[in-house]
Amino acid sequence: MNIIRFSLIGLVSALFFACGGEKGQAAYLDPAQPVEKRVSDLLGRMTLEEKVGQMCQYVGLEHMRQTAAGVDPEEIEKGHANGFYPEFPPEKIEQMTREGLIGSFLHVLTVEEANHLQVLAAESRLKVPLIIGIDAIHGNALVKGATVYPTPINQAASFNPELIEKMARQTALEMRATGMHWTFTPNVEVARDARWGRFGETFGEDPLLVGRMGAATVRGLQMEDYTGQDKVLACAKHFVGGSQSVNGINGAPFDVSERTMREIFFPPFKDCIDAGVATFMSAHNEYNGIPCHANKYLIEDVVRGEWKFKGFFVSDWMDIERLEDYHRVVPTWEDAFKLTVESGMDIHMHGPEFYFGVIDLVKQGKLSEKRIDKSVRMILEAKFRLGLFENPYVKDETTRKIVFNEDHRATALEAARQGIVLLKNEGLLPIDDKKYHKILVTGPNCNNQSILGDWAMEQPEENVITIWEGLKQVRPDVQFSLCDFDWDIRKMDTEKVKQAVSMARTSDLAIVVVGENSMRWNWNERTNGENVDRYDLTLYGLQQELVEEIYKTGIPVIVVLTSGRPMTTEWIDDHIPAIVNALEPGGQGGQAVAEILFGDVNPSAKLPMTIPRHSGQIQTYYNYRFTSKWFPYATGKSTPLYEFGYGLSYTTYQYSEVKLSTNEIKADGTLTASVEVTNTGMRDGTEIVQLYITDNISSATRPVKELKDFARVDLRAGETRNVEFTITPAQLAFYNVDMKYGVEPGMFTVSIGSSSRDADLKQAQFNVK
Ligand code: BGC
Repeated sequence: MNIIRFSLIGLVSALFFACGGEKGQAAYLDPAQPVEKRVSDLLGRMTLEEKVGQMCQYVGLEHMRQTAAGVDPEEIEKGHANGFYPEFPPEKIEQMTREGLIGSFLHVLTVEEANHLQVLAAESRLKVPLIIGIDAIHGNALVKGATVYPTPINQAASFNPELIEKMARQTALEMRATGMHWTFTPNVEVARDARWGRFGETFGEDPLLVGRMGAATVRGLQMEDYTGQDKVLACAKHFVGGSQSVNGINGAPFDVSERTMREIFFPPFKDCIDAGVATFMSAHNEYNGIPCHANKYLIEDVVRGEWKFKGFFVSDWMDIERLEDYHRVVPTWEDAFKLTVESGMDIHMHGPEFYFGVIDLVKQGKLSEKRIDKSVRMILEAKFRLGLFENPYVKDETTRKIVFNEDHRATALEAARQGIVLLKNEGLLPIDDKKYHKILVTGPNCNNQSILGDWAMEQPEENVITIWEGLKQVRPDVQFSLCDFDWDIRKMDTEKVKQAVSMARTSDLAIVVVGENSMRWNWNERTNGENVDRYDLTLYGLQQELVEEIYKTGIPVIVVLTSGRPMTTEWIDDHIPAIVNALEPGGQGGQAVAEILFGDVNPSAKLPMTIPRHSGQIQTYYNYRFTSKWFPYATGKSTPLYEFGYGLSYTTYQYSEVKLSTNEIKADGTLTASVEVTNTGMRDGTEIVQLYITDNISSATRPVKELKDFARVDLRAGETRNVEFTITPAQLAFYNVDMKYGVEPGMFTVSIGSSSRDADLKQAQFNVK
């Protein structure tokens, strides 16, 4: 862990402020004063420059140095994830911090740098501390040594909001212990196009599931109003529609009807507001021809107006500037700054131009200082609530005690166990270690950190359990052999494939680990992740060939998929007897995969997305309209490979018919629907019971079914439990033909079962008078 270096001045001023300063000190420095009063007092003392500075974020000093030293200018121009400011070298940025002209940093990855920057801020006239932001999407995983939990797509597969809240809470603790206060998560975009590389950082395709998981993340990070020194700000992002862009390209336009927007894309963001989310980030893309960063309708009318959001908006990476150079809706950056601030934007990510531009605009009377005050008020309020004025620093021993501690590692392991989906099993799993003694382990993802998923940096080897390591750890007595491919699936070697096949011939079982590579530290070699979109979803490189050649040897084969997005593995589904979709199970994921393969853990996860058979089926999601399947495809199957909500277990469950408390309710009434679920197999297990509703006849078309609730139910072998759901008007309401929200009278169908697949559901009907 890094040693903390305080400057003497910083330490003295920290102590001075911690003790409350001298008599007659400014009200804003007095923690006993109400936050509102502190904000007003401080704002009243600030110059225009200091105020606008609060609206500005910069990448960290080390980040700048590394970028300046190593990244090709063309890459920077394209706006990929590195930044530096040619005319503003780190020393100049440090000086601006000392002058109180910078409010926030991002990508500051060490305690040493975080403390150093806070020391500089404490030297400024008003000593306003910095807010430091980071993408702690599944743990604070961009930091070396942090706990890396499974990615959101795995988290969603657990259908376990309590567990997600726990991970988020631990993430907040690790962040504060590393000097960070604001994470740009949760990503509550509803993922409807798997070509989009960011699928894995979402909670999948269903608005209810995404909203519940997003809200749980917010609760864990902020614990309601985030007041205190061990909480962080969450950020609902990206508002809105990046997950259904033209051709699945990150940042490409989003153009759906208002109905789809309100039914599918808006609700998870509203759920985050209900959970108290402090900040929002706008999306790269345009909606309805207007870039989201300059979309007053979205920011002011919907989020602040309709939904009463009280927090602040941050721009995404250089997206304000893109109004000029990519979207081409304004001729200059200064116009872009004006337009976004007028549209409701509060913080600019990232760089110095915005600062100078906005000051100019105010001086020319083109933006009012009152408008600036509005943003600054919210930013200062956050800093007060987070306790930054009292203590902006982090102590090394706290970092050591909290980051990657035993408790956090155990949660990461448990989350992986609950987030790995068993897709197919013709009796080969769990592996019988009395029968199979010589097991070949191969495939490009079997022994590296690709299991971490995106938004993670390479972690110390000893912190990560790869699948290969997990297998050896879980079954030390089995004879495993490894045919290791290099991590780069773009450069798989044919000779290696031959070697794997020849090793398979002398083995009695093969475990082949294939999927995607989203390792951020190998930016240009990835096949998945941010800015890595694909036009098909097949296994890249020689992976398919590898599986087929090993299969041809005649030994039983288990395929383990590791990927944040659905993969179209139809051949594998047709030929391979056992398939486990581990998604991106995080740093402890190798152990969880091994435990599931050998049956130490009984899998319970369900798919938070539909897996198409072919990328030509995009978009494929379970809550389609009735006419979506009017005609079958002429040249292949129309069904997806695996449905939303699907996932097997080593035991079996039986569902009784659905019992309703009544067959008729008023439009504002409620009823209960229940089923008895029995564990009919030989093992204890956890079943995720899902409730779907269909509006049989409606004035505007509705989805064939929609998930409205779910429950995780633990069942011992042979045990039966009654599972009851309450159906409320909110679960029946929709936007009718006049776009009015409410419940229409008529018949509804309730479906309860183990997946969204019709064959897995029991149904009953009721009437709304
Ligand atoms: C991403 C955001 C992220 C930001 C900061 C952007 O490229 O779109 O999701 O929060 O970078 O890392």
